[in-house]
Amino acid sequence: MGLLSVLYKGLFILGAAKVFQLFFRLIQCCLQLFVLPATNFAKYGGTKKSNSQKKYWACVTGASDGIGKEYAYGLAARGFNVLLVSRTESKLVELQKNLVQKYGSQGVEVDYLSMDCAQNKDADYAALKDKIANKKITVLVNNVGLSHDIPVSFLDTDEKEMNDIITINNVSTLRTTKIVLPNMMESVSQNGDVKGLILTMGSFGALFPSPLLATYSGSKAFLQNWSSALSGELKEHGIDCELVLSYLVTSKMSKIRRSTVLIPTPKQFVRSVLDGCGYRGGAQERMSTMTPYWSHGLYHFVVEETYGCYSSLVNMINLKFHKSIRSRALKKRAKKN
Ligand SMILES: NC(=O)c1ccc[n+]([C@@H]2O[C@H](COP(=O)([O-])OP(=O)(O)OC[C@H]3O[C@@H](n4cnc5c(N)ncnc54)[C@H](OP(=O)(O)O)[C@@H]3O)[C@@H](O)[C@H]2O)c1
Repeated sequence: MGLLSVLYKGLFILGAAKVFQLFFRLIQCCLQLFVLPATNFAKYGGTKKSNSQKKYWACVTGASDGIGKEYAYGLAARGFNVLLVSRTESKLVELQKNLVQKYGSQGVEVDYLSMDCAQNKDADYAALKDKIANKKITVLVNNVGLSHDIPVSFLDTDEKEMNDIITINNVSTLRTTKIVLPNMMESVSQNGDVKGLILTMGSFGALFPSPLLATYSGSKAFLQNWSSALSGELKEHGIDCELVLSYLVTSKMSKIRRSTVLIPTPKQFVRSVLDGCGYRGGAQERMSTMTPYWSHGLYHFVVEETYGCYSSLVNMINLKFHKSIRSRALKKRAKKN
């Protein structure tokens, strides 16, 4: 009897602790998604002073389209000079012109480097090193990314698509960060008031292991652990390092054009990232990670706190979802041919 009552008490305490933890996380999640003030980028060196010499630089990869392009606009608006790194030179020239037109009067300078990350050429990374030599960088956005053209089983994945996904999402992100980081550390150590920031684009494709997108899913899961580990290393150097989680966003990659409650435009999504830097949003259970868009945040929170992102039920639902996307994509292809 004595043993039973100890057991009941223990279970009650455990249950109460779990309920309290859930309640605490829910309140935090809602405050961060809906109430708390936007991040002040002055701490990363963003300034409205119109002297461009006094401005710090933000480097954005995959900047010529979609989410990356909006990062470039968002960071210029927050008072950074912007270095655009991406593949298609004509798009970079156009974006540079538009950014200077919009923010040039506020002293914002824009530079660019065109490189194809899939080629993994030493000469491109040497050119990046040269590009940043006289710039003080405090913000790096590792945004460049590639997914599968359409959902496909691992065995049927085209060899080039498989290699490109890993080279662009992983190798290029690591090589770029290795080049930019010493510059960022120096910029931060020269001015004790300024911090550094590294944002790396993760994905719900890795938050939920995603059948029929296995290589993409694995590449983004790699970035999750790499970024979180790096964040531990960089704290003492005054550099914040965040993995940014996102469900679908309208873009060339997602092939979705119309936004919905669950699928924001790149502009809406990037605003939530830049306003929410330092908040976990829907990613309450993991360090140095943010799910900042409100509907993505609630989605992440509910799945994690109920079935769990790694549950077999979620995996099965994901498989069904991707099977149906694949069959629609194949029908569309067949119509075109
Ligand atoms: N859209 C979504 O639903 C979604 C969801 C979760 C996570 N994400 C992540 O968000 C990031 C941005 O995605 P997005 O939707 O904005 O993609 P996007 O519209 O396809 O834009 C990709 C950007 O990366 C550049 N890029 C692609 N391949 C390149 C290469 N080989 N070398 C250099 N640059 C290259 C593109 O340049 P070009 O203009 O030359 O093509 C473009 O600027 C990715 O990391 C993606 O995984 C997206």
